[in-house]
Amino acid sequence: MKTFNIAVIPGDGVGQETVPAAWRVLELAGQLSNAFAVRSHVFDWSCAYFQRHGHMMPENGLDLLKPFDAIFLGAVGFPPVPDHVSLWGLLLPIRRGFDQYINLRPIKLLRGITSPLCGYHPGDIDFVVIRENTEGEYSNSGGRLRVGTPQEVVVQNSVFTRFGTERVIRYAFNLARASRQSLTSATKSNGINFSMPFWDEVFQEVGEEYPDVKQVLYHIDALAAYFVTRPQTFDVVVGSNLFGDILTDLGAAIQGSIGIAASANINPEGQYPSMFEPVHGSAPDIAGKGLANPIGQIWTAKLMVDHLGFPDVGANILEAIERALEKGHKTPDLGGTDSTQSVTEAVMTELRHLY
Ligand code: NAI
Ligand code: MG
Repeated sequence: MKTFNIAVIPGDGVGQETVPAAWRVLELAGQLSNAFAVRSHVFDWSCAYFQRHGHMMPENGLDLLKPFDAIFLGAVGFPPVPDHVSLWGLLLPIRRGFDQYINLRPIKLLRGITSPLCGYHPGDIDFVVIRENTEGEYSNSGGRLRVGTPQEVVVQNSVFTRFGTERVIRYAFNLARASRQSLTSATKSNGINFSMPFWDEVFQEVGEEYPDVKQVLYHIDALAAYFVTRPQTFDVVVGSNLFGDILTDLGAAIQGSIGIAASANINPEGQYPSMFEPVHGSAPDIAGKGLANPIGQIWTAKLMVDHLGFPDVGANILEAIERALEKGHKTPDLGGTDSTQSVTEAVMTELRHLY
């Protein structure tokens, strides 16, 4: 039986609650399936760490993470540390340094959950968003001149490379082909007149290799509306860093709560460890109260299990989540009265029933 070494970064706020909860489910899944074991090494990198040390992680942070089989992260960001400092000091260096160019986020209406969209039933909404995760609009390129004066000038550049655009679109096409369904591309080539026509060109070029996949192109604004008016029509959606970021929060909302949305930052070549984190942030408004929904983090653990090569175990984790929800185990964000702890216990009970 294989033992995986996992770097665990609970981070800030509710990450401190959801990560230990999901870890229990992960360990249990390994034991019950007899398929794998997990060993954690916890890193306390966070905004609290920043306040003690002046940086979010040590200078050799990536070297410390590199030997691990995967990284399991909660959330980072907490006042008074500015969000751009925490984001650029920890999350983005990991995503970029480890070339995790695929950000995969499933959007699925689970059993036991009522979508804020009327008339949809579990299974009606079931697709995946692939977000480019290393370049695009989040480029760290630009600057400010004459700060604070009426003549202030601010420039923020987007950077799209052919290599970076092609590989994320190709990954999305392969995923769509594996499910023999459609691929939708998020564009804005009317308003953004250099990078987005380029994105469309690459989409079309790569698409010629995938005549069996239905190919659809929508401007991001219309696509956002379609997420609300006809989410049942999507299978795989691919977008740039910014478009994918916004679409997946919207996706999380139509799923019922951001507290259940999961994501994977993948380096498909396996040259570096991939990182698994829920879509939500540190939720300072509810942190420390035992109210955080652990399902986003548990579903994230499922994505990690899939990635490590055990999709059957991953499927059982999701099944256990759905059964627990069907029985009404819900935190307040889903309209329930359960705690982080009791939802976790319920998922573990259901998981035991599956073996
Ligand atoms: P957020 O996701 O932390 O919170 C948004 C809303 O969703 C809040 O009302 C919160 O209570 C609720 N929520 C979030 N997670 C929940 C959970 N597990 N269960 C129940 N309700 C939940 O986003 P916000 O408020 O914009 O950001 C807060 C901090 O988190 C900021 O410092 C931000 O930079 C950081 N952040 C970090 C992310 C990451 O580490 N990947 C992603 C998004 C935000
Ligand atoms: Mg986001």
